[in-house]
Amino acid sequence: MCRWRSIERLAVDNLLDLTHTAFVHADTFDNAGVLESERVVKAVGEERLTDFFAFKNAMSRPLRDGYLLDETVSLFDNFLETYWQAPGIMILVHGAVPEGREREAEGAIVLNTNILTPASDNTCHYFWAQSVYRNRGDGKVRDMWDMMTKAAFAEDEDVLERQQANLERFGSSSLADDVSLVLRADKGIVLARRIVGRIVKRESAAHDAQGPVL
Ligand SMILES: [Fe+2]
Repeated sequence: MCRWRSIERLAVDNLLDLTHTAFVHADTFDNAGVLESERVVKAVGEERLTDFFAFKNAMSRPLRDGYLLDETVSLFDNFLETYWQAPGIMILVHGAVPEGREREAEGAIVLNTNILTPASDNTCHYFWAQSVYRNRGDGKVRDMWDMMTKAAFAEDEDVLERQQANLERFGSSSLADDVSLVLRADKGIVLARRIVGRIVKRESAAHDAQGPVL
């Protein structure tokens, strides 16, 4: 269980801006290429969005080891695809395939399921599962990404605790539906907050319409 207020929102923010991996996980993944990526963020229907990164990448040592990539290949197509369902379900598909080759036939593909749900005003549960397409490397890719992702979680936790501390320091008890300073990388976060805001309003109105419970 995590300890910060509005953590499900902070954690959703984190997962909907994967450019943070270039900074927060610089040692764990060493994937600054994500900053130069083509990126497409789209709302899908009323309560979902997708956030896709796709770029050419020479692949760092941690990524080559993690995906068990062919050392004779110099350039790969690297992809990170997030499928978000409001308010806190997120599937992340990431991986690499030799440049120009077919992903399903030759790629290393890892799938993470992230589920966040509040436990109290200032705690939440974070459920996480991982699978590897075609059990690449007979479990080696799974084991490597288990280890790398757990290291990344510790790095994320440190950032989220600092965010929470700042929210408390400056007197914010909860996150607003909008953010005051919006960067290009924040598009997914802003869309997600708007979606969650609409859902909260809708559910509050439905609750009020029911009247007091006798
Ligand atoms: Fe992270």
